[in-house]
Amino acid sequence: MASIAKFTGTKNKDGKYTVTLIEGDGIGIEISKSVKDIYAAAEVPIKWEPVDVTPQLVNGKTTLPQEAVDSVFKNKVALKGPLATPIGKGHVSMNLTLRRTFNLFANVRPCKSIVGYKTPYDNVDTVLIRENTEGEYSGIEHTIVPGVVQSIKLITKPASERVIKYAFEYARHVNKPKILVVHKASIMKLSDGLFVNTAKEVAKDYPDVSLDFELIDNTCLKLTTDPTQYSDVVMVMPNLYGDIMSDLSSGLIGGLGLTPSGNMGNNVSIFEAVHGSAPDIAGMNLANPTALLLSSVMMLRHMSLDFYADKIEKAILQTIASGPENRTKDLRGQAGTDEFTKKIIANLE
Ligand SMILES: NC(=O)c1ccc[n+]([C@@H]2O[C@H](COP(=O)([O-])OP(=O)(O)OC[C@H]3O[C@@H](n4cnc5c(N)ncnc54)[C@H](O)[C@@H]3O)[C@@H](O)[C@H]2O)c1
Repeated sequence: MASIAKFTGTKNKDGKYTVTLIEGDGIGIEISKSVKDIYAAAEVPIKWEPVDVTPQLVNGKTTLPQEAVDSVFKNKVALKGPLATPIGKGHVSMNLTLRRTFNLFANVRPCKSIVGYKTPYDNVDTVLIRENTEGEYSGIEHTIVPGVVQSIKLITKPASERVIKYAFEYARHVNKPKILVVHKASIMKLSDGLFVNTAKEVAKDYPDVSLDFELIDNTCLKLTTDPTQYSDVVMVMPNLYGDIMSDLSSGLIGGLGLTPSGNMGNNVSIFEAVHGSAPDIAGMNLANPTALLLSSVMMLRHMSLDFYADKIEKAILQTIASGPENRTKDLRGQAGTDEFTKKIIANLE
């Protein structure tokens, strides 16, 4: 892993690591069960510590239950299912609360074509790093007068610097020779301008990695025209752009059911699928657990458990490539979550 946001957890006396598990809402229960079943079959040296993250209001502020916070800080790593966020009312998003509580400043989203699952695009191999703590997600909104609201996009030099530094370190680690800053500084001259200028400063410490810049609209066009242009690049960008671009990248390889991510911080890291709680298919044995599984594979590599990461990843890819009878419905297949999971277990070597 990159030298920033390294895993510092330690093994228990029984030789296993304890990992906090947030199963999540909607399909979270089904896809978490799939991960647990596959990990047990693969004999991964991990003990899950499930925690409840039902939001609590303390002095009018949304907070996580203390037990969950303590568990993540103790174990230094967590796997998280999707959490539903009510729109336009109620508590602040628990996803945002988690990122803020643990200062998870960089969200890493790799997107790689799955051999054996044909999409209009072949050989996609992109990686995008999203600033995870501020930008358009600062939550600073006010009504000026009825009918006029203002939403503030906050960009700071320290937050820009740490995510861009992480991107450079990550690029070195995965042997991608270029950083591409995706922005809209032509319009947001001060906020995106600060992000761009910070990248120029950080780049001085990384003479072995090249630095380039691209306007986000141009990146969208080029990425959907020929994504292979981005194979040797690590993209880094402010929060909202990263959110949108990563769903776009997901679409290139077959959808949200396939795309993993890691939320990296200096003390702890939380790995999660890019998708949400999919209430339309929850409890129907239709969910594709691949995105959460691949997020857990990223987590294993972060913990230097590469042997188990490779073993599980190989079995997942082999199962998807083995034909529609073994794939879930979102991948034009006929298998349910349970059948897909059993097939992966059968393919573990
Ligand atoms: N990180 C997170 O926890 C996270 C991320 C995005 C959305 N959300 C929340 O999830 C809820 C639902 O959001 P949404 O409907 O906009 O997005 P969604 O990602 O839950 O679903 C979008 C579409 O993709 C399908 N889909 C998603 N994951 C799938 C999977 N693993 N297998 C098969 N199909 C899958 C769904 O059935 C749906 O049709 C909202 O409350 C939202 O706030 C949470």
